[in-house]
Amino acid sequence: MTDRINQTLRGPRYGALLLWAWLSLFVGAVCAEAPRTPVPPAAAIASAHPLATTAGFDILAAGGNAFDAAVAVSAALAVVEPYSSGIGGGGFWLLHRAADGFETMLDGRERAPLAATRTMYLDAKGEVVPDLSMDGALAAGIPGEPAALAHLAEKYGRLPLSQSLAPAIRYAREGFVVDEYYRRLAEFRLDALNKSSEAAQIFLNKGKLPELGYRVLQPDLAVTLEALAREGHAGFYSGEVAKRLIKGVRAAGGIWTAKDLEDYRVVEREPIRGEYHGINITTAAPPSSGGVVLVTMLNILAGYDLAALDDVTRTHVIVEAMRRAYRDRADYLGDPDFVSMPIARLTHPFYAEGLRASIRLDRATPSTDLPGAQPAVDGPHTTHFSILDSEGNRVAATLSINYPFGAAMVVPGTGVLLNDEMDDFSAKPGVPNAYGLVGAEANAIAPGKRMLSSMTPTFMETADRVAILGTPGGSRIISMLLLGGLEFAAGEAPQAWVTRPRFHHQYLPDVIQFEPGAFDALVQEDLNALGHKLSEQSSSYGNMQAVLWEKATGKVDAASDPRGVGSAEVRGVVVPQMLAR
Ligand code: DON
Repeated sequence: MTDRINQTLRGPRYGALLLWAWLSLFVGAVCAEAPRTPVPPAAAIASAHPLATTAGFDILAAGGNAFDAAVAVSAALAVVEPYSSGIGGGGFWLLHRAADGFETMLDGRERAPLAATRTMYLDAKGEVVPDLSMDGALAAGIPGEPAALAHLAEKYGRLPLSQSLAPAIRYAREGFVVDEYYRRLAEFRLDALNKSSEAAQIFLNKGKLPELGYRVLQPDLAVTLEALAREGHAGFYSGEVAKRLIKGVRAAGGIWTAKDLEDYRVVEREPIRGEYHGINITTAAPPSSGGVVLVTMLNILAGYDLAALDDVTRTHVIVEAMRRAYRDRADYLGDPDFVSMPIARLTHPFYAEGLRASIRLDRATPSTDLPGAQPAVDGPHTTHFSILDSEGNRVAATLSINYPFGAAMVVPGTGVLLNDEMDDFSAKPGVPNAYGLVGAEANAIAPGKRMLSSMTPTFMETADRVAILGTPGGSRIISMLLLGGLEFAAGEAPQAWVTRPRFHHQYLPDVIQFEPGAFDALVQEDLNALGHKLSEQSSSYGNMQAVLWEKATGKVDAASDPRGVGSAEVRGVVVPQMLAR
């Protein structure tokens, strides 16, 4: 470099001056680019499966950043957690780039096929046929995850997509071992899986629940992932894979066309932002309802000193905040490319002040006393992971194929397990689906529209502490984020956010759902006395994955929900700066 400069210099004095000017510019630029915040001493990954966490660390060790690791973790989960997410599904990836503080949400949500109609899940009498939006080819939206992974690698990553996909391809080819968690979810979907011979052949053992230790091999999925690795976006959305997808889906009664796949695009959305007692919240934007509902709840609760309240009153005001924020969800929210929404109003502290003014401390507000709306959606599976790299880049991602094993159908010759995310639309405004779920006009089916979601990948940040968190759990995702976030606000460690007992209210049904053991008998009695109806759930719910970086002390911590089989690790993997873009 110095030689090159010297060759261009015309004389020693002029040259020295120029060199001095150049050096000061260079030093100035370096100083100006020096990070304003400290960097973490280690990287952390919390995900719902140990093989996915390992894949993420392998990619960090190979010189990748958090975004490359997110590609690796997403793809690995798509293989080893087939009941939760996959390349036949979609999700939201919330990103924070340390170098310039840039934040965005990658919207890789599924879209309704272009041939979708409002009445596609209704029978001749106009009644909803529930299975149609849950099992088989007609239930599947156009997948977004492959597009999101290609976009993530290309625009934010540092390694080639093929390198970050390599661990997942290996897991697909060499297989992974069935655990108790897998068996529980496969049992739940046994009948549906047996309706697709490809799905049964891959995920079951001769039509039966595979025993513990059974190895699930997905050679076709490995080939499809290789096409994605080789050709990027086009490897999935056009060419041989696309041809097979269209043929297989249509043969099974689906309505996908080549244009659906050609047209699919990831959208970068400005995250929803809020503030709670000095904590900056960055969270999921529509077509997720999660961020708006979370910020509304926190805005309501900002008016109370929660720590000073007794247990029952604290639970009561949290429930009342949930009731009010969830009420708005079904009424207003949908795909921002299709419906206009009063987001600024819903997330404004003044709006929350009005809602708070209607909360009485001595009595529950019956949901029927609030202006009418419909209950929010729920569903039994999905996944989340959180990543922090040693530069301070962050990813919070929640991914889904909706029900366990999605639509329970694998498209022949592709290994692609289809999602049944179409069930997140309201099949008929006001009419509940099989899970008691209904929606409104904003979430009605339309060609090319994204269905409303509750997935809420979130960052919470103060001057000293950064939290990266999220969870599956359908409509309960948002209330889990609230409870986990309040633990963060109270100064607790990630282990407390992910383990704390959970309760939930979603406006309708007008009942507080709670995990076994979340409330003792006395608290239940007192909540009843305030007018709350209680419903103890038969089992626990959620699978939160969380990372904390304490900038002040330099400590990095991570935790994986004990309700799942995931793993959270902190490792001293330093991203080589040489490779930095
Ligand atoms: O996008 C949604 O809101 C749902 N498809 C998520 C489903 C879910 O979280 C199920 N998890 N347990």
